[in-house]
Amino acid sequence: MNRLVELKKSVASLYASKLPTRADWADWLYDNHVIVAAEFAEILAKRHGANIELSVAASLLHDVADATMSRFDPTHAKESLKISRKLLNQAGYSDKDMAIVVDDAIRYHSCHDGEMPQSIEGKVLATADSYAHLKTDFYIFAANQLGKSLEELKNWTLKKIERDINDKCFFDDAREELMPDYLMIKELFSR
Ligand SMILES: [Fe+2]
Repeated sequence: MNRLVELKKSVASLYASKLPTRADWADWLYDNHVIVAAEFAEILAKRHGANIELSVAASLLHDVADATMSRFDPTHAKESLKISRKLLNQAGYSDKDMAIVVDDAIRYHSCHDGEMPQSIEGKVLATADSYAHLKTDFYIFAANQLGKSLEELKNWTLKKIERDINDKCFFDDAREELMPDYLMIKELFSR
């Protein structure tokens, strides 16, 4: 079987296994964030000459610990790397592929504290993640899920969209494309 098809199946079945410890919104995230990010990654990889298969694989796995734990668990990022390595290995990906997909793209996709992906596939993933945040109802759904006060929610969203547009968006044409969405969300959550 094609290794990307096998990977997609194993990611889908991990989310579908509905582990009791997983994030409450894991099902929604799989359908409305993970798959959406993978679709954007495919478009961006074609546009910017990245490896399409590795860019899509990274997107499918980038938040995979949502299937096993809360997003706010301090070990979430580490767990995503661990599960990613396991599923990629099972699907037949090489150490060289994992160096790009896991050790660069997934590891640095949040672009926290100035830590940025170096590979083109990592840049595609970070940008695709921004598309999936800014071009969908992600922030509306999050508002309904996070159990934060209105002020906390506004601050959380306003901080996150700044990272989406300024740090995670690696291509000028993508930033231009996302700017109206960013400005709209910023205006709404600044009221
Ligand atoms: Fe994400």
